[in-house]
Amino acid sequence: MRTDTAATVSSPVGTFWHSFADMAAVESGGELVIDRGEGAHVWDEEGRRYLDATAALWYCNVGYGRDEIADAAHRQLLRLSAYSTFGNLSNRPAIELAERVGDLAPVQGSKVFLTSGGSDSIDTATKMARRYWQLLGETERTLLVTREHAYHGMHVAGTSLAGIEANAAGHGPLVGDVVKVAWDSPAALREAIAFAGPQRVAAFFCEPVIGAGGVFAPPEGYLAEVRAICRETGVLFVADEVITGFGRVGDWFASSRWSLEPDIVTCAKGITSGYLPMGAVIAAPRVAEPFSRPNAGLWRHGYTYSGHATAAAAALANLDVMEHEALPKRALELEQDLADALAPLADHELVGEVRAGVGVLAAVQLSAGALEAEPGLPARLVAACREQGILTRALGIGALQVSPALVLDRDELDELRDGLSAALDAV
Ligand SMILES: Cc1ncc(COP(=O)(O)O)c(C=O)c1O
Repeated sequence: MRTDTAATVSSPVGTFWHSFADMAAVESGGELVIDRGEGAHVWDEEGRRYLDATAALWYCNVGYGRDEIADAAHRQLLRLSAYSTFGNLSNRPAIELAERVGDLAPVQGSKVFLTSGGSDSIDTATKMARRYWQLLGETERTLLVTREHAYHGMHVAGTSLAGIEANAAGHGPLVGDVVKVAWDSPAALREAIAFAGPQRVAAFFCEPVIGAGGVFAPPEGYLAEVRAICRETGVLFVADEVITGFGRVGDWFASSRWSLEPDIVTCAKGITSGYLPMGAVIAAPRVAEPFSRPNAGLWRHGYTYSGHATAAAAALANLDVMEHEALPKRALELEQDLADALAPLADHELVGEVRAGVGVLAAVQLSAGALEAEPGLPARLVAACREQGILTRALGIGALQVSPALVLDRDELDELRDGLSAALDAV
């Protein structure tokens, strides 16, 4: 139990407009200013130390404060900070990163399109999938199928694809031709494709493990079955690995762990562990090839920071760390330890279930009864966790996110469990 804190707010809120925030609440409650990090911990400006149960937004896989990554970025900043990669322009770190990610990719021979983050990757994958079918002359294939509870980022495409209704509401018409199916039912996917007609369906977007929707592992056999349905119907299988990519589920990609051979993989986060913003879209040879045909022409898509040299240098250094320390393997070892550590929380009267057991990803789900009795309970619990020195946040319908850095050790696992347990008792 911590004794050095009353961890909630620091400075009054000024001009900074917070992301994903109820600004009225932030302005009345104040903000928590995070100042520095080391390993699996961060400190706020008042010097209070927290175990970062979420690795920020699921991204700091290698932990904070890595000299190797800072040094690589520093060297690259001095040499060439960034340069356009439009047309035939390129830079060495971008080329090397694409090769490196291509070597790790679930399908050999893939091409790698670099972006600035997960939402960019989803936007790119959406346009890539539709354009692929245009290039093949199947011009009616524009429909995109997605799953309930899915989260695919906050660009307009991802907002449209997401299965979390609250995130799409209130923004007017978004991207059309999107169909949602139950998150856990291959039969629902098959029916949706049959109903529309396979000749209308461009792609199925699938988070191998649903993340922001509440951490739901795929039901036994689900991924193999939906993959097979996409193969049978020609529909492109897009694995959204923005969270699961780069080690978090005990392999470089969830697609490798489950042998999915996706047509397209979207990633971000763990590619740099968040040291600099970067994302990638990995296109299997089937998808990439038509874009390189002599008559394919210019694909009018790309971002100012696609292939950003310093972000790419940071990504390469991050992948070095992951490789040297075998962090995907470490995540696989942590999988059971994390599940075992959190399991006793399921007995708490406020907890409905603990979802864990796939990599370093888990959620502590509050019970329906507790949420009904007090809809504000998740927010109060998150605040209580801070008091106990644990930084987490609420996901889905009243679940606490647990996705710490992959370098978490035994003592830190105990610290996590004890902090969550004390917070539950305190509320
Ligand atoms: C599965 C998934 N896809 C896409 C995104 C969007 O990534 P970003 O926030 O980097 O734009 C996220 C973000 O959490 C995600 O979890």
